[in-house]
Amino acid sequence: MLPIALLPERGSTYALNVDTAFWIIFYLSLVFFVIINVALIVFIIKYRRKPEDEEPGAPISHNTKLEIIWTIIPTILLFVIFWFGYRAYAKVKWPDKKPRLEIKITARQWGWTAEYPDGKKIITGTIKDNRAITEKDFPPIIFVPAGEPVQLLLTSTDVIHSFYVPAFRSKYDAIPGRYTKIWFQAKKPGEYPVFCTEYCGKWHSRMPAKVIALPPKKFDRFINIPVDKFNSTLANMPLDSIYAVLNLSDKEFEEWSGAQEKLLASLTPAERGKLLAQKLCVSCHSLDGSPGIGPTWKGLFGHEVELADGRKVVADENYLRESILDPQAKVVKGFQPVMPSFQGQLTEEQIMDIIEFIKTLK
Ligand code: CUA
Repeated sequence: MLPIALLPERGSTYALNVDTAFWIIFYLSLVFFVIINVALIVFIIKYRRKPEDEEPGAPISHNTKLEIIWTIIPTILLFVIFWFGYRAYAKVKWPDKKPRLEIKITARQWGWTAEYPDGKKIITGTIKDNRAITEKDFPPIIFVPAGEPVQLLLTSTDVIHSFYVPAFRSKYDAIPGRYTKIWFQAKKPGEYPVFCTEYCGKWHSRMPAKVIALPPKKFDRFINIPVDKFNSTLANMPLDSIYAVLNLSDKEFEEWSGAQEKLLASLTPAERGKLLAQKLCVSCHSLDGSPGIGPTWKGLFGHEVELADGRKVVADENYLRESILDPQAKVVKGFQPVMPSFQGQLTEEQIMDIIEFIKTLK
């Protein structure tokens, strides 16, 4: 290993296998780089043509001993590379034991949606301003149990993305119209950054997320939260608050969820829509009339919009709903057809909430 931190900590059970293959290839390359370049320089100096040397040397046909050596040694080295490489590949590809659960990850321009088997859903958005991304900008995308294998089923709604957890050495493409699989087992509880590593457009570098590995007990609490309760509360909370909630005693937790339900019940649909929009929509649609990737929402509702094909439509509920589910159906003049569909990502109720919010932006 190098004395500098070239790779992040090894957070998954197979990280060491991947690193071993990496370092073996790295050091083999380094050794041969030195041998070849030193020989190159020595030979250039030693065997350079001297001014008085006009005769070509004696012809050399071959050297059997040398040729056997330089065939056998590299062959052995290639088998070594293959062995460690294949072992790492096999470990990453096939879980040691049956994964505890499978989480569906859907990538979009530009963010991730995670869905648990019971329907729990977490969505991350785009960091759109131009400041440098800090540690705080990594929102949780999945919660997993430390010490247990977890399977991810990846896909994409628009272009190819790639789900990469450097600490786990887990990386796999999320491809539209296809499912790909990756699994991992976190060694210990912690927070592990996720990056998109397939160039996917303007904000490719700004769809950060985080895998949260929880101690088994806390994960049980997380997984046992009823889906409707989770999606309406925890899914929208900052990480600190989620941790705080997962640390509550059973009784405190009951009280908390009761209070949350009351609080949510007190929100108007427009207020609920605003919470959602801030997460999902405002990276492209401004709320104040300023230009963006998509049309501003200010003064949108009830007004006539001109489409790219010259038609004119009124932005009513049906138009907005259609534009959320099938954005390419009626593209507004002057804008690119780049919006991803939110079909299957949002419930009818959530779509209504967002529309109610748009109505308030006069
Ligand atoms: Cu998504 Cu790059």
